[in-house]
Amino acid sequence: MSSFKIAVLPGDGIGHEVVPEGLKVFRAALAAHAPGTQVEYSDFDAGAERWHRTGETLTDEELEQLRGHDAIFFGAVGDPNVPSGTLERGIILKMRFGFEHAVNLRPSKLYPGVRSPLADPGEIDFLVVREGTEGAYAGQGGSLRYNTPQEVANEVTVNTWYGVERAVRYAFARAQERRKKLTYLHKHNVMVHAGHLWRRVVEHVGQEYPDVTVNYEHTDAAMIYLVQDPGRYDVIVTDNLFGDIVTDLAAAVTGGIGLAASGNLNVEGTGPSLFEPIHGSAPDIAGKGIADPTASILSAALMAGHLGLTQVAEAIDRAVEEDLAARGDAARGTSEVGDAIAARIG
Ligand code: IPM
Ligand code: MG
Repeated sequence: MSSFKIAVLPGDGIGHEVVPEGLKVFRAALAAHAPGTQVEYSDFDAGAERWHRTGETLTDEELEQLRGHDAIFFGAVGDPNVPSGTLERGIILKMRFGFEHAVNLRPSKLYPGVRSPLADPGEIDFLVVREGTEGAYAGQGGSLRYNTPQEVANEVTVNTWYGVERAVRYAFARAQERRKKLTYLHKHNVMVHAGHLWRRVVEHVGQEYPDVTVNYEHTDAAMIYLVQDPGRYDVIVTDNLFGDIVTDLAAAVTGGIGLAASGNLNVEGTGPSLFEPIHGSAPDIAGKGIADPTASILSAALMAGHLGLTQVAEAIDRAVEEDLAARGDAARGTSEVGDAIAARIG
């Protein structure tokens, strides 16, 4: 019998509405497919409300408490009344960097019954492996002559062989077990230092995966293909900022951000991985009970898979797939969707 410690951080806005639904379905699937599994949930309060109250985001002590967990189940952060960057840097990025989330895994699949905004989407089923600890997100930089007409601002992109290799290795391994096609995206025609480091790492690791076909695309051109021919992709690997942008478009073409899940993975087993919807806190619809919890529920499936609960993960995926196929256009509330998916756990 296994036991797990899961930290729960709903965050802000609709995070408070979707996270309970993700956990509801996770619990139902555990009961059905891994009975006897002990799970201890601990709640962490981080987000705009706390920041307004105390000026704190996520403290170093809390980061250390989180380290003692097997996984982190996260909602979203962001509030227009908090200076932009405060919650992002102080909470979600603090965890991605603090726990070495080398891979930000973002599956994109057009499920049967889901309408894509593309006229002729074809079959879409790919994984984006977004590097999670480096690039433009590394927080290296600063300002000179702040707020003067002579201001200079640097936002340095950091690319290490070590960091790139962690993401690239993971991407090759996933491609090997799927359709054996890896596409890496960059702009090595312009970003000649970072881009060619990526190229050389891909070529180096690729020698160990002779069955995997490797293809390079400039990221801008890939945005055309993602709309015109998304079926070409199996596994995409790319840097942190390109990956951020690519996965929003990928979510859009597969039926919207309400369905897009992600896992921030510590691939070395040195800290907890974190699972979250790709969407944000959506202050415009927060508190209304209308947010779609599907992305949080699919994130729970990714978490189950990561914890080795394969049957639990598959049961959640199946239940979501059935619900999506039966969904139609009827408007349903957040907990209604959660209940319907939980009821389909077989
Ligand atoms: C995402 C989000 C985050 C990011 C923000 C909230 C910091 O857009 O998870 O894609 O830029 O990575
Ligand atoms: Mg994003």
